[in-house]
Amino acid sequence: MYQLTFNELSQIEFLQQYWQKKPLLIKQGFKNFSDPISPEELAGLAVEECIESRIITNNNNQWQAHHGPFEDFSLLTESHSTLLVQAVDHWHADSEMLLAPFRFIPNWRIDDLMISYSTPKGGVGPHLDQYDVFIIQGQGKRHWRVGMPSSALQEVVPCKDLLQITQFEACIDAVLEPGDILYIPPGCPHEGYAVENAINYSVGFRAPNQVELLSSFCDYLIDGELGTIRYSDPELGLRDNSGELQLGEIEKIKTLMSNALNCPATFSRWLGENLSQAKHETQIEPLEDPYTEQEIKNLLLDDITFMRSGGVRIFYQKMDGCLLLSIDGQNIELPIDSITWVSLFSDFTSVTSDQLKSSINCSHLIKTMSTLINEGYWYIE
Ligand code: SIN
Ligand code: CO
Repeated sequence: MYQLTFNELSQIEFLQQYWQKKPLLIKQGFKNFSDPISPEELAGLAVEECIESRIITNNNNQWQAHHGPFEDFSLLTESHSTLLVQAVDHWHADSEMLLAPFRFIPNWRIDDLMISYSTPKGGVGPHLDQYDVFIIQGQGKRHWRVGMPSSALQEVVPCKDLLQITQFEACIDAVLEPGDILYIPPGCPHEGYAVENAINYSVGFRAPNQVELLSSFCDYLIDGELGTIRYSDPELGLRDNSGELQLGEIEKIKTLMSNALNCPATFSRWLGENLSQAKHETQIEPLEDPYTEQEIKNLLLDDITFMRSGGVRIFYQKMDGCLLLSIDGQNIELPIDSITWVSLFSDFTSVTSDQLKSSINCSHLIKTMSTLINEGYWYIE
């Protein structure tokens, strides 16, 4: 287990003073840090078709971006190169453990764990990210500079598929050592170059924007044949100017549209599907030999630990008269009194049969667990 400390700050002080406000260097956030993955294992993942990877090189100030999967690693030269692999938490259980210390931030906000391996002077250049990120220094050392958001920053495209910014003034300028952590809010310029062969772990967050949310909501309405109420005006009177679209009519259209958003059950169901979907591929597969409900009941009587599979997104919402449990793009409606075990499955990545024993006679628990285990979302350790 990784134990995170914010130097002298408590978690709440970190949230109040730094989260989404300003960058922070957390020296020795993880004491005695040991890497969950080796460079060779990381390269092994970058060979896979279903895993997103890139190699960025900056030899002689010439930037180049190459997309995986990679058959060999000749591009990963002895200096000036970086291999980046997305969503490693979906594929590598030991690396997924690095997300646990950050789960004091709501789970639905956590996106994935990206891991990079850089050779000396390797990096991706000065850039901005749209999302919050914690960058953990693993083996080796990397020199990082981080600045504050500024409207003076200008985007540059040094080569195809690589977006950078022009130089910026740094408020953090430090060489990170194993166990040091940088917190970088969205829009803060940053750049990091390896001093020696280095591994970095980026815990990234999600923050959907309006267009993404609205277009997904519309897709949900279309798929469910919802939102079909049409504009109507039985009260229509005569007017002086038939060429005018009147203020009252504009308001009526706005109300018609916002009424579509204002149905709480539709909104929660859509949100559950939307936010519980993984952005990257996962290795979740239904069991070939599924458990019966009786077998699940028997498991609960044993001394067993249930583990959440890597990349599974799960959370619940309190709705009017029920709970909505959302997992990997699916919703399960449950009675309110399921909250004790629903929160165990949503808050933690491992749950013991002992924690569930008091609910063993709840048919909803047995049914839900059958789904979670048989679909491959949870597995038996
Ligand atoms: C990296 O690890 O090279 C990139 C991390 C980042 O800047 O977001
Ligand atoms: Co970045």
